[in-house]
Amino acid sequence: MIYSGKVIAINKSVATMNAAKSFKDYRIVRLLDSGANSKTYVLNKDNKQFVLKFTRIVTLDVAQDKEQWYKTKQVLTTLSSIKHPNIVEVYEVGEVDITDSNYQRFLDMINWNEVKSEPEPYYNQHDSSSGIPYVIMQYIEGHDMIKQHTNSEQALELITDLMSALSVFAKYNIRHGDMKFQNVIYNTKTGRYVVIDFDFSEITMHLNIELT
Ligand SMILES: Nc1ncnc2c1ncn2[C@@H]1O[C@H](COP(=O)(O)OP(=O)(O)O)[C@@H](O)[C@H]1O
Ligand SMILES: [Mg+2]
Repeated sequence: MIYSGKVIAINKSVATMNAAKSFKDYRIVRLLDSGANSKTYVLNKDNKQFVLKFTRIVTLDVAQDKEQWYKTKQVLTTLSSIKHPNIVEVYEVGEVDITDSNYQRFLDMINWNEVKSEPEPYYNQHDSSSGIPYVIMQYIEGHDMIKQHTNSEQALELITDLMSALSVFAKYNIRHGDMKFQNVIYNTKTGRYVVIDFDFSEITMHLNIELT
């Protein structure tokens, strides 16, 4: 089923009146980050904080995006069974499609003024069997490495932590695909560096050709 731009416009005005406050059985606390193609929110459930990330909100190449999401989902599903201090914990992975009761909430949360009209929103290009990819994960209190100045002792800890994360990736044949300072968070509660963002990752059989 294809939704026209007009239908979206109507949804949008309804959305403005009913600002989203929840997603599934989580309460939406605040917007955490707004990327070029993602929106990240802090959630709360039973007095515990979580992070919700919608990804691939817009797309240039539907087939390519679907393929990458398939790979990312495989990695996130693998990670959901792993608890490691240097890798973000993954709790839930899925898609919100237009038949999902959370779909309206998704529309509510996106500031469509920020999303360029070209390319078209992701959901516009899909049939009702596809949807907006999302992941619910651990909330890491801290800041990403781009904001962190490290002394030599901290640099050593950073390297040790990253090597520890990479060894887990190697064990499960995970290629992260986007290792950079913005995707490493310093967890102020545990004092550990944590790898996030699996939007370009995959499970590969050709490990060690590319290390990240
Ligand atoms: N689980 C998390 N806990 C705390 N902050 C997070 C978490 N996930 C993402 N963030 C924050 O949001 C930013 C964007 O998240 P990221 O997954 O890297 O999205 P993008 O695909 O836009 O790069 C991160 O750099 C970080 O500051
Ligand atoms: Mg990132």
